[in-house]
Amino acid sequence: MINKWFKVEVFNNHQEIADYVGSIISTDAVSETFNIALSGGSTPRTVYSFLSEFKKPYIPWDGIKFFWGDERCVPPDDAESNYLMAKESLLDKIGIANDQVYRIKGENNPEAEKERYNKIVLSNTSGIFDLMFLGLGTDGHTASIFPNQMELFNTEQVCAIAVHPVTGQVRITLTGRIINASKKILFLVTGSEKSQILYDIIYQKGAWNKYPASYVRPIDGKVIWILDRKAAALI
Ligand code: 6PG
Repeated sequence: MINKWFKVEVFNNHQEIADYVGSIISTDAVSETFNIALSGGSTPRTVYSFLSEFKKPYIPWDGIKFFWGDERCVPPDDAESNYLMAKESLLDKIGIANDQVYRIKGENNPEAEKERYNKIVLSNTSGIFDLMFLGLGTDGHTASIFPNQMELFNTEQVCAIAVHPVTGQVRITLTGRIINASKKILFLVTGSEKSQILYDIIYQKGAWNKYPASYVRPIDGKVIWILDRKAAALI
C-alpha cells in the first residue's frame, strides 16, 4: 500500500527486513554525515543483529552518527538499556567508533540529561534526523511516548521525560516535534500481537486517535512501515 507520505512493505522474516533496511541506508547515507536515531525493542534488536552483517562497502558506516529516539533511565550496562542493546547487536559488531555514538546517558539525573541531550541533538543534527527507527507498542506508543502522555508528542521541546504507564520506569524520549522533522522514518513492526494496533493506526479505526504512533507524520519526510506477515495480517 502506498500513500503520498507513507508506504507499507511486508517481508517474510527479520533477515529480509534487515536486507531492506540495509539497502535504504546504503542508498541514503551518501552525504558526508548521516544521522540515525535508533529505537529500542525486540524487533529493532533482531533487525540490528542481521544488519550488522552489512559490512563495508555496502554501507559507509564511518560517516554515520548514531543517536537514540529514547532511553530508559538506567546505567549503560543495564539489561534494560537501549544503548546496550544497540551496542551488542550492531555497533560493536560493525566496529563503530565511540565518537560516532551519541547515547542518552540513562545514568544521569533525568532533568539534567534531558537538557544535555537536547543540546547534543540540536548541535549535531539541527533537529533533523536523516533516518529514524521507531518501534510500535501494542498500546500504540512509539519511542517512549505513551498514550497517557500525549503532551510529549505536541510539546515544543526536543527531548522530554516520560514514565512508563505500567512499570513506572523513567525514560528520556525525543518528542513528536523531532520525530516529525525526520527525513525518513522506518517503523519496524513484527509479530501477530501487533496486527490489530497496526490495522487501527493505518486505517484510522477504533481508538487510533489515542495512539501516539498515529501522529507520526513527517513534515517533509516519509514513513515506511516495515512489517512481517504476522504483523501485516489485517492490512
Ligand atoms: C523502547 C522502545 C519502544 C519499542 C516498542 C516496540 O524503549 O521500548 O523505544 O518504543 O520500540 O515498545 O517494542 P517491541 O518491538 O519489543 O515490541
